[in-house]
Amino acid sequence: MSKITAAITAVGGYVPETKLTNFDLEKMVDTNDEWIRTRTGISERRILNEPGKATSDLGAGAVLNLLEKKKLDPTEIDCIICATVTPDMFFPATANIISDKVGAINAFSFDLAAACSGFLFALTTGASFIESGRYKKVIVVGADKMSAIVDYTDRNSCILFGDGGGAVLLEPGEEGYGVKDSLLKSDGVGRNFLYMKAGGSLNPSSVETVLAKQHFIHQEGPAVFKYAVKGMADVSAELMERNGLTGEDIAWLTPHQANLRIIDATANRMGISKDKVMINIGKVFRVSRHQSECALLIFHGTAAKYFFFKVQFQQLFIVQRNSKQMLYIVPEFLY
Ligand SMILES: CC(C)(COP(=O)(O)OP(=O)(O)OC[C@H]1O[C@@H](n2cnc3c(N)ncnc32)[C@H](O)[C@@H]1OP(=O)(O)O)[C@@H](O)C(=O)NCCC(=O)NCCS
Repeated sequence: MSKITAAITAVGGYVPETKLTNFDLEKMVDTNDEWIRTRTGISERRILNEPGKATSDLGAGAVLNLLEKKKLDPTEIDCIICATVTPDMFFPATANIISDKVGAINAFSFDLAAACSGFLFALTTGASFIESGRYKKVIVVGADKMSAIVDYTDRNSCILFGDGGGAVLLEPGEEGYGVKDSLLKSDGVGRNFLYMKAGGSLNPSSVETVLAKQHFIHQEGPAVFKYAVKGMADVSAELMERNGLTGEDIAWLTPHQANLRIIDATANRMGISKDKVMINIGKVFRVSRHQSECALLIFHGTAAKYFFFKVQFQQLFIVQRNSKQMLYIVPEFLY
């Protein structure tokens, strides 16, 4: 019996209406549009600022968009995995709340927290469920309301992040199409360069932690930057080599949209020309882990191969051979 593969058969996305531009940030911290664009490639991000709205609304928006495009009944979904580090609350899982909001009454659901690498770790997990033969329809959704944990007085980090959600549907692939390979790595040694100091079991929330602003993202940008560039390039090379691929073989590169300079450096090292690199960082938004699937929404065509990758402290690469039904591209996502 041939091996079951997991193909992405639909994608969906959702971003809130409100834009936070570089010019808005100029009024909040000591920064300027030119600096932000040159250092990051970002011009604006989306912010969920409606009272009572949370990460599950972003995730549910993405899943509903996917269901509508695919004309899929939510009761057919077997499983929903939500990659997030800004859950609505510690528990229940945001994936449970999303399931309820979209009517996926037959799905089991859970969250996966792996920060920047969360979506691709979740994608690999979801693909394994399909490959096992036990499940037929798995939705992987990445959603984050990063604005909930951004310190808008810290110019080092507030320029980067935004809010949004993206989702993909995984189904058994036809003719062997689907996730071909992945390379997962984790390295906890960098934990002091990008983290939230309090709110967990190490430093539970208290008046002191709130006053010390320890419930916001703490980032040492240059350290993260160096780590990301080296890690992405190294792991790209390793995965391409073990699959006998060169830059020429890759139709599209869908990188984690952390910083345009990181993307450029990685593409160069992989020998991939710029026209094959999906970039939505400039005008869409900056979110932690679902950039890849949101980027998918921008480009269309029937490319033969996809190459996904993402790396921060964890590293993961996926080479995907495309099936024609893979991309449900919608112009309305061309933000
Ligand atoms: C955050 C980041 C854009 C900063 O860019 P950088 O080129 O490394 O800049 P530095 O932090 O070295 O700062 C350079 C100077 O600009 C200043 N600066 C920092 N943020 C600034 C801002 N928003 N506006 C203007 N100046 C700023 C610094 O204070 C520093 O000034 P100094 O030289 O007088 O000390 C970059 O490090 C980065 O993208 N890192 C990776 C982020 C990432 O991927 N995070 C993971 C999320 S998934």
